[in-house]
Amino acid sequence: MQTLHVELADRSYPILIGPGLLSAPGVLDAHVPGRDLVLISNTVVAPLYAERLKASLRGRRFIEVVLPDGEQHKSLSTASRVFDVLIANRVARDAVVVALGGGVIGDLAGFVAACYQRGVAFVQVPTTLLAQVDSSVGGKTAVNHPGAKNMIGAFHQPVAVVTDTDTLQTLPDRELHAGLAEIIKYGLICDAAFFGWLEDNMDALRTRTAAALTYAIHRSCQIKAQIVGRDEREQGERALLNLGHTFGHAIESATGYVDWLHGEAVGLGLLMATDMSARMQALDAGVVERLRRLLERAGLPVVPPRIGAARALGYMKVDKKVQAGRIRLVLLTRLGRAVVTGDYPDSALQATLAAHFG
Ligand SMILES: NC(=O)c1ccc[n+]([C@@H]2O[C@H](COP(=O)([O-])OP(=O)(O)OC[C@H]3O[C@@H](n4cnc5c(N)ncnc54)[C@H](O)[C@@H]3O)[C@@H](O)[C@H]2O)c1
Ligand SMILES: [Zn+2]
Repeated sequence: MQTLHVELADRSYPILIGPGLLSAPGVLDAHVPGRDLVLISNTVVAPLYAERLKASLRGRRFIEVVLPDGEQHKSLSTASRVFDVLIANRVARDAVVVALGGGVIGDLAGFVAACYQRGVAFVQVPTTLLAQVDSSVGGKTAVNHPGAKNMIGAFHQPVAVVTDTDTLQTLPDRELHAGLAEIIKYGLICDAAFFGWLEDNMDALRTRTAAALTYAIHRSCQIKAQIVGRDEREQGERALLNLGHTFGHAIESATGYVDWLHGEAVGLGLLMATDMSARMQALDAGVVERLRRLLERAGLPVVPPRIGAARALGYMKVDKKVQAGRIRLVLLTRLGRAVVTGDYPDSALQATLAAHFG
């Protein structure tokens, strides 16, 4: 088992990573406080893992909320249904919310925990690769508005993150590959050696080898934890974690958030941001080809939908990162080093969009 810490003064917390943690004697028991637990999961994940988790937390009182599966349920109305259950059961302030599932469940349960009685403790038990390397760490919680994703939310850090890598054995391939895109992102933004490790170990990750997964998740969480520790509320550096996301956002928006998984769109976004950095002569063009090859080996698409440069730009302009009308982009200055900037030639952005989106 690997342990690391997110350092945020009195809101610091551990992240535990390894195979079998859901049933490892004492692990959950030591890191989940509270006698009354509100277990929030969904109809896919609860039948697979809820019993294992509950068996490791014998002697606690559980209130279980099993929600329907899907991003469309990450909504205010679902949160409201959960509040109804909590109030009907007179759940007290010292209860602890446990999120068992992917990013949808983690974001929604975290939002519920942030709001219920102005904030109760919560523990993340992420079961998708994306949730294990990204959404469970850092305290961003949210639900979607029908008109915009993640628009209603709060910063609310968990008290612990417990990642059992064995849960990935049941994850559909496409979801695994989507999580790999976020892992590759960490290498690009701040660790060239980790990028090289991914090139050497991509096959072991694809075949879900426990040791490789544990290392990749550990290194990803370490990078995210360091950045969040320095910039919890995204005043600056935390925005680097959005590498590829503004380009990816154009794909997700143009396709109505249904055909493309977030990680798939991000993978292509990484390629476009890297390509644009090379077009600006800020980055060695060889990195673009290395990345394309690595994305392919991760099972990710490398050709975007032909939505057209103008339409893509339109979607990018409604991204949260627009400041004073200028799209701020995360670009690379070398492999393992990224900057957030609005200072780039429009011609480089245009050329990149035309090359990829047509
Ligand atoms: N808070 C943050 O910082 C942050 C960061 C990135 C993404 N997000 C959010 O995360 C969400 C996406 O998360 P996701 O990619 O985990 O999607 P998800 O939660 O929808 O999970 C993907 C699918 O896998 C299923 N699943 C989960 N674990 C499984 C398992 N072990 N075995 C089999 N099936 C399993 C789910 O039921 C679902 O059908 C989005 O809403 C996004 O906005 C939040
Ligand atoms: Zn992402």
